[in-house]
Amino acid sequence: MRAVVNRAYGGPEVVVVEQRPIPVAEPGTVVVRVEASAVGASDAAFRAGEPFAARLFTGLRRPRPQVQGSDFAGTVESVGDGVTNVRVGDRVWGATGAAMGCHADLIRVRASGVIAKRPEGLSAVDAAALVDATAMAFLRDTAGLKPGERVLVNGASGAVGTLAVQLALAWGAEVTAVCSAERAAVVRGLGASRVWDYRAVDVAGQEDRFDVVFDVKGNLGYRRARRILTPHGRYLITVLTPGALWWHIVTLGSRGRRSRFAFTGLRGDSRKQADLEATADLVRRGQLRAVVEATYPIDAASTAHAHLERGRAGQLVLTMV
Ligand SMILES: NC(=O)c1ccc[n+]([C@@H]2O[C@H](COP(=O)([O-])OP(=O)(O)OC[C@H]3O[C@@H](n4cnc5c(N)ncnc54)[C@H](OP(=O)(O)O)[C@@H]3O)[C@@H](O)[C@H]2O)c1
Repeated sequence: MRAVVNRAYGGPEVVVVEQRPIPVAEPGTVVVRVEASAVGASDAAFRAGEPFAARLFTGLRRPRPQVQGSDFAGTVESVGDGVTNVRVGDRVWGATGAAMGCHADLIRVRASGVIAKRPEGLSAVDAAALVDATAMAFLRDTAGLKPGERVLVNGASGAVGTLAVQLALAWGAEVTAVCSAERAAVVRGLGASRVWDYRAVDVAGQEDRFDVVFDVKGNLGYRRARRILTPHGRYLITVLTPGALWWHIVTLGSRGRRSRFAFTGLRGDSRKQADLEATADLVRRGQLRAVVEATYPIDAASTAHAHLERGRAGQLVLTMV
């Protein structure tokens, strides 16, 4: 079967498609024929070997020959002994997190991992673009977002941001979005009441106050963002910087303004599985839809990575069939 790997750290050119043995379902596992899988920030980070500290896990001088991709949408090809939650032929979606392996024709996953039947009528491409629960975990669990609150999403047009805007709206918040002028129309189309161009607006210098500032891009910083937080406002940052760590610790006991960082990918499978069900509910109710800028066949994985470097609205998705 085909699988996307990089045998060196570097730019999109190090991404290659190679042949790998076909996985066989063992007891308690499921083999899924992957139809679509998103290409995102974690794939780019793994490919580039940045931040350098990540190489402690991925290989110091050169990467371990790990197949990329951390979420999948596809069809169950075979099941091992003892598997009862899915059957051969089920249309499923799920995530493998740090184990990766989804940019391939087939993947073997634990039946007790993050895998579920996907909502009727949801295409594999759209499903792959919706699996990631980063925005859900940050807004619901880390911020404890409440209806009626005012949310600012800094970096609203990307993979995490387009889901964050939709989730905040679905949960009854009012959303101000920050992205480039080029991608403003996409974000406005998701329902954000205001869209600010980061090249034209000094976000932290505005009169407006927000209950939650979700710094998806990670370039605002708590020191500046707290100026636009309400007295009980929460600042959330996705990128682990020394500042993010410092302010997280300094404001740990605070009931007033506070800064929070989280690694959503490190949460347990049961919580991720619950997020998948919650995402499915929102999709069924028409409150969440996929934003996909482009799809690429798996053989063009390197081109997809080059596109990723240029930025995109929503997600880029690899297709295998
Ligand atoms: N902590 C965690 O658990 C976790 C989990 C997942 C992801 N992440 C991290 O979250 C970050 C975002 O991921 P993503 O996939 O959403 O990235 P992305 O798709 O590349 O989106 C980046 C966003 O930032 C915007 N942006 C670019 N320059 C900006 C600026 N100067 N000011 C404000 N916004 C700016 C982009 O807008 P335009 O494209 O319109 O220019 C886009 O909306 C990544 O660093 C990723 O590693 C963390």
